[in-house]
Order: sequence, then structure tokens, then C-alpha cells
Amino acid sequence: MTVTRSYEVQDVFTPTRPARSTFVERQSVNDRLVAALETPGKQIVVYGYSGCGKTTLLVNKLHQLYENHITTRCYSGLTFEQLMLDAFDRLAPFYDSERTHTKTNKVSSSIQMNYLGIKGQMAGDSARQDQTKQLRVLPPQLTPQNLAIFLGETHCCWVLDDFHKIDSREKVKMAQVMKLFVDMADTYPELRIIAIGAVDTARQVIQFDREMDNRVSEVFVPLMTEAEIREIPDQGEKLLNFSLPPAIKNQVVRFSDGLASICHQLCLNICFAAEIRRTIEANIEINQDVLDKALELYVEESADTLKGAFDQAFRQSHGQTLNDGKVILRALLKYNQEGATKEEILAKIKRKQPEYKMPTLTNFLRHLQSPDRGELIRYDPASARYSFSENIYRAYAATYFEREQQKETRAQKTTVNVDAEDVLRHLIRDTLAH
Ligand SMILES: Nc1ncnc2c1ncn2[C@@H]1O[C@H](COP(=O)(O)OP(=O)(O)OP(=O)(O)O)[C@@H](O)[C@H]1O
Ligand SMILES: [Mg+2]
Repeated sequence: MTVTRSYEVQDVFTPTRPARSTFVERQSVNDRLVAALETPGKQIVVYGYSGCGKTTLLVNKLHQLYENHITTRCYSGLTFEQLMLDAFDRLAPFYDSERTHTKTNKVSSSIQMNYLGIKGQMAGDSARQDQTKQLRVLPPQLTPQNLAIFLGETHCCWVLDDFHKIDSREKVKMAQVMKLFVDMADTYPELRIIAIGAVDTARQVIQFDREMDNRVSEVFVPLMTEAEIREIPDQGEKLLNFSLPPAIKNQVVRFSDGLASICHQLCLNICFAAEIRRTIEANIEINQDVLDKALELYVEESADTLKGAFDQAFRQSHGQTLNDGKVILRALLKYNQEGATKEEILAKIKRKQPEYKMPTLTNFLRHLQSPDRGELIRYDPASARYSFSENIYRAYAATYFEREQQKETRAQKTTVNVDAEDVLRHLIRDTLAH
């Protein structure tokens, strides 16, 4: 094959960034998203498990279909006022006077004046606030209505990434803004909010306002299928000019387990191990030794992160005899990836710990969903089930307890230290062998 363009390996395999050159089109999700994007006034909630490809899908589709968009990344503690200010700030390039002039009368001059007026006033306010160290306040003129006009005039949609992270009170206010955007769709058909969030995000938006029910399009992004995952190395091979024999590619796909980020990481490691930094002149074939090196690198990189998350989940206060984290995760492992309800988990726990109480379980299940405890599990209100938040956590937990059991039997002790790298190596061996 003749290679016409050179690519850097980090731009081809992107474990921590939205894929561009290896972006895989996902037909079923695409169709729903595109239909929603083409319906005037439709507000959109894109939701799915962590790492399933929500952000990537949006980034790529908006580039293909939308004139302009702005993105606000949400985090816990972010207020409605800060969200409004963030959107306002991100619109600045569109209202920058030089740029607006070059585009043929795109933005009406009175609206531009209005934007710049609010901006000017905020600059004055913040100079004053610097002295008193106060937070930025929302100027009275920056109403949701005005923000809608500023967005609408520039044919911009507003993406709220990680929407699930903001507090319920702020979500209620954002649902109201969505409603206003729906009402203004006659004037500005492209005006919309796209909220990207975790599995239960769609319900969170709708439950605040029944009227929003048919004005919000909910797009569920599933984990990637094996065929979709396979396209990542398929495309990467072409762009960088190397070949993965089928047996090796199968292992990469199997180990990725529906998560594109793992696939990107493994492919990147393969390139590192084969010393491919950018598109190469003469095609080379990757052998099992290279894959083994790549997996070893994966173990070294991931062990700390996985160990960190499990250490947090298993942390005990002084004098505590029962390790709630271990008890709960062991019980959860008895169910498949879909997880189990609280009652089912308790029933499993009670087989070994008949005294275990529901309030303790409820409390600890909440902890296990928080970053402070590694966010190992998630809750899906639609099915009322708890499950591992990522397949790799589930697999790691299974291997972890198995290794702990083996060591306990050998050492005849009650507590043993299980080495994270050792667990990961076993996990990889088992996954690739099945
Ligand atoms: N369609 C796709 N084609 C190729 N790679 C993809 C695709 N979708 C996602 N990826 C890759 O998968 C990883 C995770 O994707 P992304 O960050 O979009 O997921 P997410 O659902 O937004 O995750 P989070 O819940 O953590 O925000 C990234 O490495 C990205 O490059
Ligand atoms: Mg994301």
C-alpha cells in the first residue's frame, strides 16, 4: 500500500481524547442523534456508561453537522450562574467585532452591541470584585432569554458535558432553560442544549418537568460492539502502515471488552513496543512478542490506577473488623454485569454474614459510588440495580478475590496483600484464554 500522509501515533490512538482519525461511525446511535439534531427545538440528552464514547460521538457529529457549538464541562459544585457565565464567555469569539465584520452581516449589530455591553459591564464588575475577592456574579441583563439570542444568532448549540456531575438544584434550573429554548425554536431552529451524562441523566432532566417529555430526545450510547472496536486497529493499521495478524487483533478486541479507551491504549502500547512513532515507510507485521510487551506496559500503567480505586473502596477505619467494601463487591460479583438490586445484594451477603443490615448496605453502596471510594459501582434508577461502573473493575475484582483466596489458603492467614500487577497479569491471561 502506498502511504500518502504521515500521522503521529498519538493522533491516531487516543485513549484519553476523543478519537478523530480513527473515529468509528456507529450506525444505530448515529441515526438517532442525527434525527434529533435535525429537529428544530429538540433538546438532546446523550447518556451511557462511562467510556462508552459519548463525548467522541458528539464532537465528531457536531463537526460534521453543526455550524458552531460551545462546550461547558460540568463538575460537582458548578452553579447555574457559573454555567451561564461560561456559555457567555465562550461566545466571545463570535461577537468579537473584527470577526463579525468579516462575516456578511451574520449577527445583527444591535445584538452584537448588547453582547459587548454586557461584556463591558462584567469587566468593570470583575475589576471591583478582584479587590473584594468575590465570585463573579451574573449581571441582570444576562438572562436565559438573552443567552438564547446570543446562541441563536451565531447558529450555536450548547453542549454540557458530564451534566450528571452538577447538583440537582442546578439541573432543575437548566431544565427550565431547555424549556425556554424549545419555545424559541421558531426564531432559532438550531438553538438547543445537548446534555451529555451518565446512565441516569435522561431521567434526571425529564423528571423535573413532565412537559419536557417529548421535547427532549434521549440518545443512549451503548458500549461498542466487537465489530466496532475492531475498526479502531483496522483504521490505525492503514494510517500508520503496520499489520496486526488476525490472532493478535482478536486478542486486542477481546481484551478491550467494549471499551474503546482500552483498545486505543493497547494499540498505542503496541506501537510504542514496535517503535512506531508515526506513519512508517515500509509496512511491518506485529508479532506476539510485541503484543506481550504492550500488555506488560498496560499492566504497569493501569495497576496503580486500579489499585488506587480498590484501595479506596477497601479502606477501613481503625478497629473495624468487617470490610464492607469487600463484602459488598464480593456479593455483587455473584451477579452478571447488569448488577443486582439492594435486596438481592443483601440476600447474598446474608448467606455469610446473617447479621448484615440494610441501612449499612444502603449507606455503603452510596459511598462506593463516590470518588472518595473509587467510584467502583453505579446505580441505574430505571432498573433499581447496582453494578460495577466499568467491566474492567468487575474483572479486576473477580481476579482480586480469587488471588486473595488462593493466598489465604496457602498462608492460612486472614489478611493478605494482593499485588495489583499480579492481579492484572492474571486478568489479562484469563481474558485472552477464554
Ligand atoms: N466512535 C469511536 N471511535 C473510535 N474511538 C472511540 C469512539 N468513541 C470513543 N472512542 C474512544 O474511547 C475513549 C472514550 O471515549 P469518550 O471519552 O468519548 O467516552 P465518554 O462516554 O464520553 O466517557 P466519560 O463517561 O468518561 O465522559 C476515548 O479514547 C475515545 O477516543
Ligand atoms: Mg465524556
